[in-house]
Amino acid sequence: MAGSSTSAQTAALYLVLLGAPGAGKGTQAQVLSQKFGLLHVSSGDLFRDNLKRETELGKLAQTYMTRGELVPDDVTIKMVAERLGRPDGAAGAMLDGFPRTPAQAAALETTLVALGGKVNLVLYIKVSPEALMERLTGRWTCRGAGAHVYHMKHNPPRQPGVCDVDGTELYQRDDDMPEKVSTRVGEYLTKTSPLIEYYRGRGRLAEIDGERPIELVTKDLFAAVEAVRR
Ligand code: AP5
Repeated sequence: MAGSSTSAQTAALYLVLLGAPGAGKGTQAQVLSQKFGLLHVSSGDLFRDNLKRETELGKLAQTYMTRGELVPDDVTIKMVAERLGRPDGAAGAMLDGFPRTPAQAAALETTLVALGGKVNLVLYIKVSPEALMERLTGRWTCRGAGAHVYHMKHNPPRQPGVCDVDGTELYQRDDDMPEKVSTRVGEYLTKTSPLIEYYRGRGRLAEIDGERPIELVTKDLFAAVEAVRR
């Protein structure tokens, strides 16, 4: 509640966006993190940033990302835990693309306990496998720090090839080629989708139909988050 200063109402909020590649996690994470004043932590964006800066972590991650496979748990966990622990995450975070394996989910719990928090809610954006290919092959991403996401049909920028938010160039990700999308979806189905039942069993899952216009998905996500903040 705005203006309140009680500890219960100012406790950090940790949200997780779960869903297949192309389900709309990045699109929705940007709006949700703004709305609820949370740090947006995208493991994919952190890897791509390392790649751009040519760090050792970036070079290691690239070998997996170019094949459409998951980066090993140990390096991924260390990178995300470090990011969550920085001061700009004190109000909480919107986790996008992490956790993606049971080991990552366990490590996240440990990390958040150390920060005095917990996973408050997991937002599962459900989209059928058939819709994913069309979404990813039509996606354009901006080169700016915010990595804003567009779609040539569903969410086009005002000016073709240019980000509405920061004016940087838009590009198509290498791993959005059809054969890599198939590998990524396969990785999701075998390694990540078991987390749906894991979090449902803990009473922390909200399931949202992601095959509707972006604004309607956002509306349901906002409502689910508001319900846990009450
Ligand atoms: P990452 O960058 O996380 O990719 P991803 O999970 O595959 O997810 P995407 O970014 O592709 O999709 P999204 O759900 O964010 O959809 P978006 O909003 O863009 O990971 C990349 C790689 O990094 C992995 O393959 C792995 O190698 C590595 N990695 C990352 N995290 C890891 C981890 N935790 N462990 C190990 N390895 C890890 O939307 C897609 C398109 O659809 C856009 O064009 C958008 O405009 C459009 N769209 C969105 N919503 C709608 C809608 N409702 N209707 C129509 N179109 C829509």
